[in-house]
Amino acid sequence: MSYKNEILLDVFKSKSIERPPIWVMRQAGRILPGYRSVRSSVSGFKELVQNPDLIAEVTVEPLHVLGVDAAILFSDILVIPESMGLDYEIVEKKGPVFDKVISSPSDIENLNYGESVLDKLQYVFESIHKTKKRINGSNPLIGFSGAPWTLFAYMIEGTGSKTFSKARRFLYEHPKSSHLLMEKITDSIIYYLNEKIKCGVDLIQLFDSWAEMLPVNQYLEFSLPYIKRIFQETNDVPKIFFPKGAWSVIPHLKDVKMDAISIDWKTSPEYIRHHLGESIIIQGNLDPCQLYGTPEEIGLAAEEMMKVMGRNHIANLGHGVYPDTSSDHVKVYIDTVKGYRYS
Ligand code: CP3
Repeated sequence: MSYKNEILLDVFKSKSIERPPIWVMRQAGRILPGYRSVRSSVSGFKELVQNPDLIAEVTVEPLHVLGVDAAILFSDILVIPESMGLDYEIVEKKGPVFDKVISSPSDIENLNYGESVLDKLQYVFESIHKTKKRINGSNPLIGFSGAPWTLFAYMIEGTGSKTFSKARRFLYEHPKSSHLLMEKITDSIIYYLNEKIKCGVDLIQLFDSWAEMLPVNQYLEFSLPYIKRIFQETNDVPKIFFPKGAWSVIPHLKDVKMDAISIDWKTSPEYIRHHLGESIIIQGNLDPCQLYGTPEEIGLAAEEMMKVMGRNHIANLGHGVYPDTSSDHVKVYIDTVKGYRYS
């Protein structure tokens, strides 16, 4: 498949490009007027996230309004726990809340997992077809999933947490059951991502948003083997991994079959290149709070970031854009990247 603008795919083919490609995590969200109006026309987040027509509409908005190089399919990482049997709601000012959680090993027995989650996720696959039609060959489409540990954390906590201590406690108290749950989540993710790829997403990103919560030994035992399986067992499209905040596990990621690593604003590209080499593509890593600065400051910070990153870089933020950020400021960032030229 070729697109009018495929600079995001070119970077993975080692083609010579004149500037880094750019997209922004959470670009399809509350920063955009179209999203806010669609969001206020429905009863809640769940109604939006399960409606393929509305998904297609909010997914393409950033292409037109912000001018990013790729769209990311509007969805959420929590659709997987839900397809496994744990329903959630997004509560205003609080975030995700699950009505049922995994509180003991026996709760893991009854979970739906593997190929059978696909039935419950048909709306996602239908939304890919609708979105591809709307994009009409202009740009690539990114698909994503949460990583096993991050989903495990929500399935046990039932909501966000400063410490994720219930989920971490479960690892210590029930190591065998923890592996079983990680396995069930991993099997589900692999089927889910492969089906997304079959439906036409051009690349994928795995979000390990709570990677930083685990000590290295636990990350190596309970998370990394499953991450490796996901990158091994998913079909051949470019793959990005975002182990947010987990700088101490970076040296252990050498044999993960990923093409790019997304880094937050606290990790330096020098550190990544030292451990993972020159050929890995680095995505990131402007501090989302930088976008609260003046347009001049944003432009200077973006240029500085691109100089430090060099080639093999996808411009993005170090984490999702905060919902109260001015979309004009996000556009200054995007325009600065699009106007930049490698020397
Ligand atoms: O990047 C994009 O534009 C695609 C959309 C996207 C959403 N969630 C939409 C969303 C993506 C990639 C996600 C992933 C996601 N969801 C992650 C991983 C990325 C990260 O931020 O670390 C996580 C941890 C979640 C779980 C989640 N979903 C939270 C914590 C929240 C509440 C956040 C908030 O701003 O209220 C959600 C809900 C959610 N998912 C919203 C959006 C736009 C806001 C809900 C709304 O509009 O009511």
